[in-house]
Amino acid sequence: MNNDALFDLTGKVAVVTGGGDGIGKASCEILAAAGAAVVVSDIALDKAQKVADDITAAGGKSAAVACNVLQSDDLVRLIDFAVETFGTVNILVNNAGLGGGGRENPFKINRAYVERIYAINLFAPWQLCKLAAPHMQKSGYGSIINITSMSSINNSPAMAIYGSSKAALNHMASNLAYDYGPMGIRINNVGPGATRTRALASVLTPEIEAKMLAHTPIHRLGEVSDIAGAVLYFAAPISAWVSGQTLMVNGGGVQTLD
Ligand SMILES: NC(=O)c1ccc[n+]([C@@H]2O[C@H](COP(=O)([O-])OP(=O)(O)OC[C@H]3O[C@@H](n4cnc5c(N)ncnc54)[C@H](O)[C@@H]3O)[C@@H](O)[C@H]2O)c1
Repeated sequence: MNNDALFDLTGKVAVVTGGGDGIGKASCEILAAAGAAVVVSDIALDKAQKVADDITAAGGKSAAVACNVLQSDDLVRLIDFAVETFGTVNILVNNAGLGGGGRENPFKINRAYVERIYAINLFAPWQLCKLAAPHMQKSGYGSIINITSMSSINNSPAMAIYGSSKAALNHMASNLAYDYGPMGIRINNVGPGATRTRALASVLTPEIEAKMLAHTPIHRLGEVSDIAGAVLYFAAPISAWVSGQTLMVNGGGVQTLD
């Protein structure tokens, strides 16, 4: 058996949201290294452009585009851009997400906050799935990967909206797997535990880190490369018969905030 072929994405086109930093950036890099042409999208075009330029400089194929996933028109433009630039969409990584960190005092947040969190964590992935699926079906290869969270299965204080939005994302994927399977499209979720990114740094205190590590058998926080490895697994032919699943990448344990 040729193991390289099982991870080979040559000729495939990947679209990543929030690809300018953190887990999204690492996902862009690992997919490009496996041979995919990668559309790096981000609300911050300068960050996306830098990631795309670095991939290109390293011999890969990549292009950057501005996309705020809270804007429906931007999502349409993103898929159009991928098709115009590289011909189709085979892999979609719904990575851009918001919330978490135990900051949602249920008596202080308002409806606008809840709508915003659900818009970025659930509505945008749903719309991108809908937009990308016909191209995936036509091309004969489709894999969608949603970046969910340990919070989708944990119960923690001040996490109800973020946690429930990510739980909905998990459930959306396991249901869409039924709709998309016959179209030749797989859909799975990768659920990071606490992973060292700019977003985590904004909420991490020594106390929170100590609590997380107390529940982490592999006794360290995650690195973005740990999460990107799971993204590559779901994107590549090696997972050809895997759909509707959620893989927690978290060093083992539960990593609750309480
Ligand atoms: N880091 C963690 O510990 C952790 C844990 C669980 C889940 N996650 C999930 O991983 C995903 C990525 O998180 P991260 O920690 O890498 O974040 P990050 O802050 O490091 O990077 C997020 C990227 O998304 C971009 N972005 C922000 N708002 C956007 C928008 N509206 N449209 C498009 N792009 C936007 C930012 O510019 C940035 O480049 C999120 O869905 C998050 O919920 C992260």
